[in-house]
Amino acid sequence: MAKAKTTFFCRNCGYQSSKWLGRCPSCGEWNTFVEEIVSKPTDKHSGFNRGEHKSKPALIHEISAEKEERINTKSVELNRVLGGGLVPGSILLIGGEPGIGKSTLLLQMALSMKGYRILYVSGEESNRQIKMRADRLGIENPECYILNETFTGEIFRHIAELNPDLVVIDSIQTLYTDMLESSAGSISQIRETAAELQRFAKTTNIPVLLIGHITKDGGLAGPKLLEHVVDTVIQFEGDRHYGFRILRTIKNRFGPSSELGIFEMQPGGLREVSNPSEILLSQRDEMVSGVAIAAMIEGRRPMLIETQALVSTAAFGTPQRSSTGFDLRRMNMLLAVLEKRSGIRLSNKDVFLNIAGGIKVDDPAIDLAVVAAIISSSGDLPVENNICFAGEVGLSGEIRAISRIESRILEAEKLGFKKIIISKYNLKGINKKQVNIEIIAIGKIGDLAEKMVMK
Ligand code: TYD
Ligand code: MG
Repeated sequence: MAKAKTTFFCRNCGYQSSKWLGRCPSCGEWNTFVEEIVSKPTDKHSGFNRGEHKSKPALIHEISAEKEERINTKSVELNRVLGGGLVPGSILLIGGEPGIGKSTLLLQMALSMKGYRILYVSGEESNRQIKMRADRLGIENPECYILNETFTGEIFRHIAELNPDLVVIDSIQTLYTDMLESSAGSISQIRETAAELQRFAKTTNIPVLLIGHITKDGGLAGPKLLEHVVDTVIQFEGDRHYGFRILRTIKNRFGPSSELGIFEMQPGGLREVSNPSEILLSQRDEMVSGVAIAAMIEGRRPMLIETQALVSTAAFGTPQRSSTGFDLRRMNMLLAVLEKRSGIRLSNKDVFLNIAGGIKVDDPAIDLAVVAAIISSSGDLPVENNICFAGEVGLSGEIRAISRIESRILEAEKLGFKKIIISKYNLKGINKKQVNIEIIAIGKIGDLAEKMVMK
């Protein structure tokens, strides 16, 4: 074979260069270049290629655009995140930290999809380990095949023999193709094997689900290059100390890209959580200070979530500020607004904030509940427990209108709340007659304390 050709890749963005560079001209990161052997033999092709399949131009008005048929994954939450189910011929990437439950999720899906022939390719675990997991899940599918293989040429050979309806790859980082000499898991291998699988999915119309590991800093390993090869990227996340797992769409060519599915990891597998509010509101018998409920929207679903604050006098010089599940800078901003606009002194206090269930929240509508929890804790007065909050707080202390207020109100009502505090700018467009919950509208943060009715 001719001498191996080497190329340098940026580990961060996949930029390719013929020589080593200290700083990536594409993403600007330092020290990210790694050398990889790239030698593409032209004589043998054991990877998947088009073969006889020839493409030809088609007139756009002649292309039939019937509604995409969807393959039901038998999981309501997974279907929701996918925008209604799997699209034939699509390639999907599911990312997540090690141990979060990616293999469990897809094995459970494979076992539940009775009537489909499924090939689950694992380069990570042995057949026995997978069998043990399947026993633990307690579901059986007579047409679920497990293949322990990492070489794509072999995988495609088995696929041709087995003719499955769906292929799962656990994980893309373990695959290699003999087109390249670099080792499995390297950027060039990830890119090439994913591209082979993508060609396979497109030509055969068989959907492929890839599992991808996430690096420490939260990006998919071999990140950007995979994101544009695949049709859909979903992320499986959650705090390992809690049972809740969130499935989030990051990109979806066939559906909304802001969907959310919620699961709970249990000893016998993942349970679907169809009413998230119930688990996100912790069971409280007594009223305690520093707790306020927010009516937030994640993806397209309204849910109620508990925010908890602890305000205490700082023991040492600089007060501590810390927050879990909520942006710390935003919390500092809210503290500054609160101090300036409602006269509560917080500059010498430690403030800790926590969002229940280990969930990270981006929805700005949670601001009002955060502020309410802080006011409640600093005065040591519990918020009445049948009240919830939905509003964004602006820099001048104004309570700003938020999106989709009606669905938040309905969710609060459904869960038995009696009052909801919202922005007065949201009042327009609410049909008060239709709701059985008392709506309290306020315009600025200074009015919040008295309306919260603390006991
Ligand atoms: P796993 O699917 O192996 O994670 P990943 O593929 O993302 O690395 O999940 C492993 C974790 O899930 C492990 O800590 C055990 C736990 N688990 C349960 O709690 N219940 C179960 O039924 C199963 C199969 C796993
Ligand atoms: Mg795994």
